[in-house]
Amino acid sequence: MIKKLIKSRRAIFPAQYNQKPISKGDILEVLDAANWAPTHKKTEPWRFKVLQGEKLVELGVFLSEKYKETTDKFSEFQYNKLRENPTKAACIIAICMQRDPAESLPEWEEIAAVAMAVQNMWLLCTEKNIGAYWSSPGLIKFMGDFFNLKEGEKCLGFFYMGYYDEPSPVGVRRPIEDKVEWL
Ligand SMILES: Cc1cc2nc3c(=O)[nH]c(=O)nc-3n(C[C@H](O)[C@H](O)[C@H](O)COP(=O)(O)O)c2cc1C
Repeated sequence: MIKKLIKSRRAIFPAQYNQKPISKGDILEVLDAANWAPTHKKTEPWRFKVLQGEKLVELGVFLSEKYKETTDKFSEFQYNKLRENPTKAACIIAICMQRDPAESLPEWEEIAAVAMAVQNMWLLCTEKNIGAYWSSPGLIKFMGDFFNLKEGEKCLGFFYMGYYDEPSPVGVRRPIEDKVEWL
């Protein structure tokens, strides 16, 4: 049931991942789910970069060193976390948005379409018992120094993926009644 799946989707973090690899077939299915997100003017603005193995180590080194270079209040804990977290994932998919060159849509619509693609990925991961979450550190503004980003392409974060053994955390939301006005 789709409602049950939606409510059971949780952010599962690197500390919870075990070392089990994720098959290429599963990663491709997750990417295909993303590709079916709705999109205004059919711009299909989602772009993905799949990182595994040594690339995860490289990402950790890049993020931690960029942090050291740019922060004005360095913390050893944060440095180590940035360095190690990527290596705990079986796979990280960098979430990118390619702005339509004609700029026929406001940027927010392109970002919204990418976010819908990410929700598709996250729900399919939930169904496959793959832990996942969207990580969006401030350092993503420097990702053009790590990836070859095209003109108009922006990195919006990282979709971490990894199998996990512990039960999913319990979801918490404030009541929907507080967020709705019936007119
Ligand atoms: C656009 C977006 C960016 C996020 N960035 C982060 C992040 O940088 N760090 C983090 O711990 N969680 C991040 N999350 C995950 C949220 O923390 C998580 O979804 C929220 O706590 C609700 O938990 P649930 O998804 O398990 O219901 C992000 C989620 C979204 C949608």
